[in-house]
Amino acid sequence: MEKILDIITGKMQKAFADAGYEASFGRVTVSNRPDLCEYQCNGALAAAKQYKCAPIQIAKAVAEKLDAADFAMIDAVMPGFINLKLSDAFLAAYLEEMRTAPDFGVAKPGQGKVAVIDYGGANVAKPLHIGHLRPAIIGEALKRLHKFLGYETIGDIHLGDWGLQMGLIIAELQERQPDLCYFDPDYTGEYPAESPFTLTELEEIYPTASSKKSDPVFAEKAHVATFELQQGRRGYRAIWDHIMGISLPDLRRIYNALDVHYEKWLGESDADPYIPAMVEDLKARGLAVLSNGAWVVPVAEEGDKKELPPMILVKSDGSAIYATTDLATMVQRMQDWAPHKMLYVTDKRQNLHFEQVFRAAKKSGIVSAETELDHVGHGTMNGADGKPFKTRDGGVLRLEQLIGDMTDFVRSKVVENKIVDESEVESTTAKIALAALKYGDLSNQPTKDYNFDLERFAAFEGNTGPYILYTIVRIKSILARYGAWEHLPMQTPANAFAKDLMLAITKFGPTLETALKSSAPNLICAYIYELAGAVNKFYHETRILTEEDKNLQAGYISLIGLAKNILETSIHILGFSAPEKM
Ligand code: ARG
Repeated sequence: MEKILDIITGKMQKAFADAGYEASFGRVTVSNRPDLCEYQCNGALAAAKQYKCAPIQIAKAVAEKLDAADFAMIDAVMPGFINLKLSDAFLAAYLEEMRTAPDFGVAKPGQGKVAVIDYGGANVAKPLHIGHLRPAIIGEALKRLHKFLGYETIGDIHLGDWGLQMGLIIAELQERQPDLCYFDPDYTGEYPAESPFTLTELEEIYPTASSKKSDPVFAEKAHVATFELQQGRRGYRAIWDHIMGISLPDLRRIYNALDVHYEKWLGESDADPYIPAMVEDLKARGLAVLSNGAWVVPVAEEGDKKELPPMILVKSDGSAIYATTDLATMVQRMQDWAPHKMLYVTDKRQNLHFEQVFRAAKKSGIVSAETELDHVGHGTMNGADGKPFKTRDGGVLRLEQLIGDMTDFVRSKVVENKIVDESEVESTTAKIALAALKYGDLSNQPTKDYNFDLERFAAFEGNTGPYILYTIVRIKSILARYGAWEHLPMQTPANAFAKDLMLAITKFGPTLETALKSSAPNLICAYIYELAGAVNKFYHETRILTEEDKNLQAGYISLIGLAKNILETSIHILGFSAPEKM
């Protein structure tokens, strides 16, 4: 569906032309004085300079030409603004079209396009910690937003499964159990199907090994092990398989709890086969050059404000690094999926890395000129006191622990307020806790840091996830008491609160469009907060279930039903859902 702003801009431009002025002056904007009007046009002020006459004169002439049926108010006011209010009939017809169109008539700019969303960034063998929350939540929301707006979306976790951490684990394991067959270079038999370590042991082995990195002898062993693993040493590859087999189910379990789902569980290791040919090609074309023994791709461009160091492709010891893997991953993605867009969600401290990789990708043609590359760099989640989030003993908090703390807090409220029957406590708690966690995060601009405040995020009032859920649940219960409602057509607004609600509903599509363009799920949060406010206002000011005029009542019900559907679709895009009762 065409956006309201575009529809009335079209009408305004025609009115300018009909009054004898250039049509392009007829640009309409949402009013910045909602007390006076809903939309406004300031074009007469600009036109006055060109036509050398008083702006009010132009505004009045143009206002005359507008079709009065579309507007409840057309006001040409000093010095030359045209203030507008939509007519009830126009608004009702627009909402009726939204109500009956697929996906509320939202335009689908992504139709026929593929978008890869790279988010989550989990590292195998290391437990997820709170730093993994934001990329998972923001990435999932952006992926769902792209999908809703027509893109074919591929969410890829891009596991850290190939780096030094693997060598560290192998070296540590060898120190502990040197007699295992994995370490015997002459062993030719099959390796055991059973892993020599459990998940709990693995979670201890890695940090222990990592703390020994400062020991030069151990560090050297780990580096050699990493190198040999990457060269394909059989025994190490078998250990790697065990690590993956143990670690992945655990990662999946936690992402599932967050309602975060990946189409692809590819990792750095999957990019590895693409590296040799890519490196050779870049060398052959002179795009990679030698610098102090390393092969680098210069990416500085004329007009750069600050110096951009070259992207390191191959280190002087012959090893590939993070950037190499990311570039090789792009080779794979272009080959397999030919995406129109690749979006990366990571900590904003990786800005430089992505700037370098993106430039190398474009410069070398690995990624076609038309493919959009975007990095959404997110800020940090701090503790309620604004300081870095730490456990009592100063360690990093596990993501699972954070989810557990939120769940426990919400559960106690659910039980205390006797919200649902005992059998439904867990499922209701899980939904509310997830809403609290995700909305608490997503309502902030991704790039900004924010403070995690369990009690504030979980509150049922205020700008929170649970408040949005509560609004949905409340409408659902009214609808349930009313009976079948889905077929009821939209009516003209019965009061000012109904009109405000209708105006809020019309902003759904434009909000999604802007949120997509600026990779900003926070705009969707702000929107549903406004929409929920408008529904609650309407609900408080209007007798709905006790209304005796059945026709009037049907109009109310149709309106709140549409609002509920839009709220539910919005939270689905954000990545959470509403319980039946609250
Ligand atoms: N595993 C990486 C980290 O822990 C994040 C991966 C992000 N995605 C990417 N394509 N580089 O920092």
